[in-house]
Amino acid sequence: MTDTAELSLAGKNSEYPVLSGTVGPDVVDIRKLYGATGAFTYDPGFTSTASCRSALTYIDGDEGVLLHRGYPIGELAEQSSFMEVAYLLLNGELPSADELGKFETTITRHTMLHEQLATFYRGFRRDAHPMAVMCGVVGALSAFYHDSTDIHDPQQRMIASHRLIAKMPTIAAMAYKYSVGQPFLYPDNSLSYTGNFLRMTFGVPAEQYEVHPAVEKAMDRIFILHADHEQNASTSTVRLAGSSGANPFACIAAGIACLWGPAHGGANEAALNMLHEIGTPDRIPEFIARAKDKNDPFRLMGFGHRVYKNYDPRATVMQKTVREVFDALKVSDPVFETALRLEEIALNDSYFVEKKLFPNVDFYSGVILSAIGFPTSMFTALFALARTVGWVAQWNEMITDPDQKIGRPRQLYTGPTQRSYVPMSKR
Ligand code: CMC
Repeated sequence: MTDTAELSLAGKNSEYPVLSGTVGPDVVDIRKLYGATGAFTYDPGFTSTASCRSALTYIDGDEGVLLHRGYPIGELAEQSSFMEVAYLLLNGELPSADELGKFETTITRHTMLHEQLATFYRGFRRDAHPMAVMCGVVGALSAFYHDSTDIHDPQQRMIASHRLIAKMPTIAAMAYKYSVGQPFLYPDNSLSYTGNFLRMTFGVPAEQYEVHPAVEKAMDRIFILHADHEQNASTSTVRLAGSSGANPFACIAAGIACLWGPAHGGANEAALNMLHEIGTPDRIPEFIARAKDKNDPFRLMGFGHRVYKNYDPRATVMQKTVREVFDALKVSDPVFETALRLEEIALNDSYFVEKKLFPNVDFYSGVILSAIGFPTSMFTALFALARTVGWVAQWNEMITDPDQKIGRPRQLYTGPTQRSYVPMSKR
């Protein structure tokens, strides 16, 4: 294998080192390209660009493999807990029982929000989207927790990381409570991370709330499936925001804003809305035809992925979890049958086969979340809650990376060249 790439540009040859990771494609290190040639690279959407080094998560999109610190997502989803995965992503290794216990205690101790933040919520309109509330409240945390915004202090970085992971369920549950006009519930630290979130969301102060063990398990698994996903758009946003030295709360708020879009985290909400719009399996061909029509902007939501050109391994677990939740709650939903049939039809259609479009994590998640009782508007907020673990771990990795610089892409300028100002009277 060559360890140098040669480039010939305008009659001048230059060489670039080729770097290898532990697994996955090599990368051509083009940091000296501009100095050597005066040219930039052009890669809108970063389809061929590695923006950083990372030891957190690996995806083989062709094989449908997702590893966190080397562990396959299927094994983590089956055998571990969200807190364990959070520890793994932050620290690099699976915790011992003692380490996990200490970590859970630390996270639990940070679950409460500054009381004044309850007033902050009341500034939002009642019909505000939970993601709008999440962006605002998480950004506002930096105004409340000044003692953990110094990014150069490892201790403060750690406290900020724990605070963000711990407070996110409280923030998301409060966004939900506010939208339905029910009182906020304080965290109950005798419950698990996920059990506590379910109680703060669905409990009311007037009654005892029993966490359903199967729902708690399914929810915890959904959090695991969303915990991290390499250099996706929101994670790259967090890294870019953080590269300027911005505080962690501001960076995570930026990640939440990016996640909201329907091409990213907003797809779970859009996928369930689409399944409802399709309604019954007999209407599937109509929607498949629309998805294939170049003149129609409609896309099958929950289908396709920039990296996976095979079945998203998270979708496999998600589909299985739908059945578990239905069995545990003794419910069913015709929308699930529509989803299964849609998948079957699409996977046998040459358009989807040739373009390698498979169900992604968002295709089935909405069906489960809706069975648990979440309104569609909360789906992306749940994604944000879980992804906070990945964002925080990636942000910490970036801050301690010796190669880290402020992210500052260049451009291919296509506007007018220099011209003289034209006075108003001459236009
Ligand atoms: N339905 C119909 N056609 C599709 C779809 C789809 N869902 N996704 C991609 N295509 C077509 C697209 O039209 C294009 O065709 P052509 O080459 O003829 O122009 C081709 O497949 C490649 O698509 P692309 O948009 O160039 O691919 P991308 O890597 O830029 O986009 C994506 C990836 C996820 C944004 C896209 O597949 C999509 O919009 N999917 C629906 C939204 C969705 O489910 N997003 C969740 C992603 S997973 C969760 C997460 O990580 O946030």
